[in-house]
Formats: sequence, C-alpha cells, structure tokens
Amino acid sequence: MSAEIIDGKKLAAQFRAELKEKVAKLTAEGTVPGLAVILVGDNPASRSYVTAKEKACAEIGIYSSDNRLPENTTQDELLALIERLNNDDKIHGILVQLPLPKHIDEDKVLLAIRPEKDVDGFHPVNVGKMVIGQDAFLPCTPHGVVQMLLRNGVKLDGANVVVVGRSNIVGKPLANLLIQKAATGNATVTLCHTHTKDLAHFTRQADIVIAAAGRPNTITADMIREGAVVIDVGVNRVEADTPKGYKLVGDVDFDGVKEKASLLTPVPGGVGPMTITMLLFNTVQAADNFAHSKK
Ligand code: GUN
Repeated sequence: MSAEIIDGKKLAAQFRAELKEKVAKLTAEGTVPGLAVILVGDNPASRSYVTAKEKACAEIGIYSSDNRLPENTTQDELLALIERLNNDDKIHGILVQLPLPKHIDEDKVLLAIRPEKDVDGFHPVNVGKMVIGQDAFLPCTPHGVVQMLLRNGVKLDGANVVVVGRSNIVGKPLANLLIQKAATGNATVTLCHTHTKDLAHFTRQADIVIAAAGRPNTITADMIREGAVVIDVGVNRVEADTPKGYKLVGDVDFDGVKEKASLLTPVPGGVGPMTITMLLFNTVQAADNFAHSKK
C-alpha cells in the first residue's frame, strides 16, 4: 500500500479562510482580535515559530503584539509584562513561547496568564476543564491533530490509538482529548513513552499511531500495521547539506512508513500549519467571548 499524504497546508488554508470571515465580522462590530506573543531569549527554533505565528495572525486580520525579550529577562519582569497584557483590552490572547530560559519557572508563568486569555490552553484551569470535558481553550497541537483526522474522514469512535510521547504540550492532552465522550473522541488510547517496554508491540496493534516523541526514526515501517493512519508531530532539526545547514524531519521514517500506512502526514507541511491555525481559532474565540462579555 502507498499512503495518501495529508496536506496540512491545504487543510489549514480552508480553516483560516473561515476564521478570516469571523475576524472581519468581529472587527466590523468593533473588536479587532488581538494576540500578544512573548519570546524570551534567542532559541532559533522558537524564533521561527513565533515569526510564523505572527505572520499567520496578520494574514487573517488579527492584531499581534510582538514582545521579544532578552535571555537575561528576570521572572519578575516577565510576570509584570503578563500582568499588563492581562489588563489590556486590545489583547484577547497571550502566548508565551516555550521553553523558557532555565532561571524562569515555567509553571509560575503559565499560571499568571488569565485563563480567559490562555489561547495555548496551558493554564491548569483550562487543562482541568479539558480533562473533565468542559468548555475550554484546547491546546493547539492536539486540537490540530484531532481536526486533521476528522476532516480526513478518519473514524475515531472505537479506534485503537497509540500516542507516543507524554509531554504536557502534546502527548498528555492529546490522549485526553481522544478519550473524551464526544465526536472528537471515543477512541481507545494507549499512551507510550520512553519507559514503555517493547513500543512496537503496541504500535503494531494500532489503527492510528501518533508520534510525538521528539526523536527522528522513532516509528519505522516494521512498527506499523498495514493500512494504519500515521500522524507525525515531530519537528527535529538534523544536519544536512542545505543553505541553512539543517533540514526538518519528523519522528517517523517517512519513506518506509508511506509504503505501509493508508494516510500519513509529512514534516514539514503536516501538523505544523494546523497547530498555528488552532492558535488563530482560540484567539478568535477569546475575542468573541470578550466582545460578547462571556468573560
Ligand atoms: N513550544 C512548542 N510548542 C509550543 C506551543 O504550542 N505553544 C507554546 N507557547 N510554546 C511551544
């Protein structure tokens, strides 16, 4: 079997066209959706993610406030900025790009963002609401993966899903979303991680494998059942003979797995564009809540 390759960019463009209309409507009613992006330090990957997020905002008419702070910014300075943005009515969403420098306590920073402006869905209030199935901002990558599966006609109800990786940003929330008693869930989920014994034993039984381990070649063709759906969340920079000196690869051995899977996402151009789209989705939702005083 040769897999159909999911075009994340095309799917994201469809979503963004819908969002652009909502932004125009909110703007006409007097609320321009606003997102504040905060980047501390000079991590090259983080810098390129933040730039891509701001560009995507501009393309659909969301106002973005760019806050790039030096590596030696203190925790108190960062918390003071968040407090100012929490109280700024032009800003409906606040995003602090992770990871933060080691001298800053990430948990404290995420807790400082008002849950109503937490468009990343990382605040414990939003995480807790998601887990118990209440309305909440959903974390962007997991939400993007679920939308990608549904919009490609993949049946989640009753499916055996293996998620590889247990990060707070992807693995844990994704497993939670997929088990919810909802159209976006109802799957049977196994969450595998670095201490899992015999990973292939689990992945070979899966209808859907989602790789979010952060390591190239974590998933190879021998680990996949013929006809399985494979979603690659990994973004790894590996040295290559290119102008930049590196190329991006996922966690999945793309060339091998594409001969066995029925549906497969590429890296880049797969999950990445959907992650940013879900950030736009949450920002528009936050602005809509603000405009209609669901604060
Ligand atoms: N770092 C890696 N992924 C993300 C994300 O989705 N949001 C934020 N804020 N930081 C990240």
